[in-house]
Amino acid sequence: MSILICPVCGEKLGISGRAYVCGSRHSFDIARSGYVNLLLSKHIGKAVHGDNKLMVKARRDFLDKGYYAPLCSAVCDEALRYAENGCVVLDAGCGEGYYTSAVRAAFDRSDIAVEMYGADISKVAVEYAAKRDRSVSFAAASVFHLPVASGSCDLLITMFAPYCGEEYRRVLKNSGIMIMAIPSENHLWELKKAVYDTPYRNEVKPYELDGFEHIGVRRVSFTMELGSAEDIQSLFSMTPYYYKTGKTEQERLEALEKLSVQADFEVLTYRKK
Ligand SMILES: C[S@@+](CC[C@H](N)C(=O)[O-])C[C@H]1O[C@@H](n2cnc3c(N)ncnc32)[C@H](O)[C@@H]1O
Ligand SMILES: [Zn+2]
Repeated sequence: MSILICPVCGEKLGISGRAYVCGSRHSFDIARSGYVNLLLSKHIGKAVHGDNKLMVKARRDFLDKGYYAPLCSAVCDEALRYAENGCVVLDAGCGEGYYTSAVRAAFDRSDIAVEMYGADISKVAVEYAAKRDRSVSFAAASVFHLPVASGSCDLLITMFAPYCGEEYRRVLKNSGIMIMAIPSENHLWELKKAVYDTPYRNEVKPYELDGFEHIGVRRVSFTMELGSAEDIQSLFSMTPYYYKTGKTEQERLEALEKLSVQADFEVLTYRKK
């Protein structure tokens, strides 16, 4: 039985043919690519938009070139520390499944059987994700209304997606683990210096989160040699600055053909209290 629940009535969903169906006969088709759309229109808030096709493609191209591979390895290592045979893992805000699929593969290499899920509000993103990895169950869903049974997950991974502590605690089992990554102080410093008149270092907020015990931090810092204007643009479009950049800054960005830039992250691990 899947951990997915019906977004209409909350009953457990089971697979019947090419659809997920609940006991009250609400039915959700599985798309040809393999994901299921469990988004109800009332859950798509006006303020929250999933990533569009262009953003999803930019991120996928960038990540698939391996630029963030050291971060991905650190997340896989951290996930493996807490993994047990038969564990249930959810990647909340999974995008196009780069980390989801890598974590899944890391479990496989360690011979740990896992039930893996990914959820993202962007249908384009989960469509890519589902095509990338058929062994993961992907759903279009909001992290603010996860169609996931309470207390069903051993491990929740959330990478640069909106944070909904209440939902994350609800879906985790008692003492369940949450792993997330945040940009640290020097992340993309050279890129910011090249684009802005007065660049700022990232402010790292206190680690404490309501209802979670903070149990681990790994700093992951490395240098990326961006070899083309396209890669620089892709990276920039993955950042929150993308939305706040004026014409002058955009022109400076477009003039960059290559760039050596620091990636600086912290991988944070929490246990549900
Ligand atoms: C910066 S991307 C990160 C994606 C992926 N975790 C990664 O690191 O490659 C943020 C993701 O959050 C998704 N997102 C935004 N609002 C969301 C929501 N309310 N529920 C679920 N996903 C959401 C976007 O569609 C996007 O895929
Ligand atoms: Zn139902």
